[in-house]
Amino acid sequence: MPAEFDIRRVPDGYIADPYRVLADLRTKAPVYPNPDGSFVLTRYADIEHIYRDPVLWSSDKKSAFWPKFGDSPLFEHHTTSVVFTDPPDHTRIRKLFQSAFTRKALNAFVPRISGLVDGYLDRLADAGQMEVVEEFSFRLPIEVVSDLLGVPQSDRGLIRRWAEAILTALEPSLTQDQLDHGNRSVIEFKEYLCDLIKARRANPASASDTEVIGTLADAEADGERLTEIELLHQCIFMLNAGHETSTNMISHGIHEMLRHPDQIDRLRRDPGLIDPMVEEVLRYQAPIQINNRAATTDIRVAGVDIPKGSNVHLMINAANRDPDQFPDPDRFDIGRKPNRHLSFGLGVHICAGNTLARMEAAIAFQKLFERFEKLDLVEPAQIAPRIRFREIKRLVIAAKS
Ligand code: HEM
Repeated sequence: MPAEFDIRRVPDGYIADPYRVLADLRTKAPVYPNPDGSFVLTRYADIEHIYRDPVLWSSDKKSAFWPKFGDSPLFEHHTTSVVFTDPPDHTRIRKLFQSAFTRKALNAFVPRISGLVDGYLDRLADAGQMEVVEEFSFRLPIEVVSDLLGVPQSDRGLIRRWAEAILTALEPSLTQDQLDHGNRSVIEFKEYLCDLIKARRANPASASDTEVIGTLADAEADGERLTEIELLHQCIFMLNAGHETSTNMISHGIHEMLRHPDQIDRLRRDPGLIDPMVEEVLRYQAPIQINNRAATTDIRVAGVDIPKGSNVHLMINAANRDPDQFPDPDRFDIGRKPNRHLSFGLGVHICAGNTLARMEAAIAFQKLFERFEKLDLVEPAQIAPRIRFREIKRLVIAAKS
């Protein structure tokens, strides 16, 4: 099997269960030379090592994205956002995010998140059935991240469409139509944000205390900490990073719990398991399944020579199921401890929104499983055919109080 594996054309069955294919790869070739010259890494220890060394392993994607995107809006976006920059630019931009994501700033969101979740669950109680993605798991994070950036209620559907097109462009293979759609979306998103920032500057009193856009826009205004192009792309990145991933975390959490009713009983008996449950959901179905780095020098990993400039795929999904790190890794165990999964990455680029995402998940799951006595899957969940983002497209559940 390893000799035939190609990350650009994953084998049949991979979307339904990537973990089985990757476990085989990890056993036979943990640093696998993909036919296109990149490398696929599946061992926890190797991936952890790479995350921790941003000097040997770069996040800058200019040379990787140039052949794919050329001189285009998608290229500008994906090479300017904080996640795809190296120190010192990364350090400068990341500092601005830190100040917006302090515990104090995030605590202000708890009542808002609780109120939103109660509203979705009221609707589930009334109807007895719900398509979770559309009516719950997508709505919560988009509301929260849009609040964070001060996007008005009426425009939130637009954000979703742009975000989907821009993130789809990161998949390993793309159609011309997807590329065109992604490029158009970056242009429209930038224009939209320029207007939003202008309006905020014209009327600063209209902004709420929790808006990050103010922090970033101030940094741009002083002319040294952030350029205008950087400002717009950080906002786009945060709107994208902050909702699709969290949507999938919530959908997968509900799905896995319903597939493992013994774990629902366990949580009801011991509500203190809510935080480890969130971690187990993140480990078991990592919303982002792959991160990438480029070797900045010729280097050897686990006996395999990786030439300078090579692209390596850090398979978070495989690391999270590595038996050397997680005993009985395919078991869904909400009490698992320790649980040092890599779903938020590690090192200097570790997810800036991880506390917010964990907060949303804990409130959503706690309220759902507390409120309903009986919860069932109405039909099998539909998994989207994407490999970088593990997405549930449709999830219908029935509930009785
Ligand atoms: C379950 C939800 C989430 C998951 C699984 C997730 C995952 C990740 C991962 C794996 C990275 C590291 C990328 C790398 O090292 O190459 C990352 C970075 C980042 N995430 Fe998240 N994320 C989530 C939610 C959020 C939220 C809610 C926000 C903000 C509202 C956010 C903002 C960011 C930012 C700004 C970075 C870039 C950090 C940097 O490069 O220094 N994320 N995320």
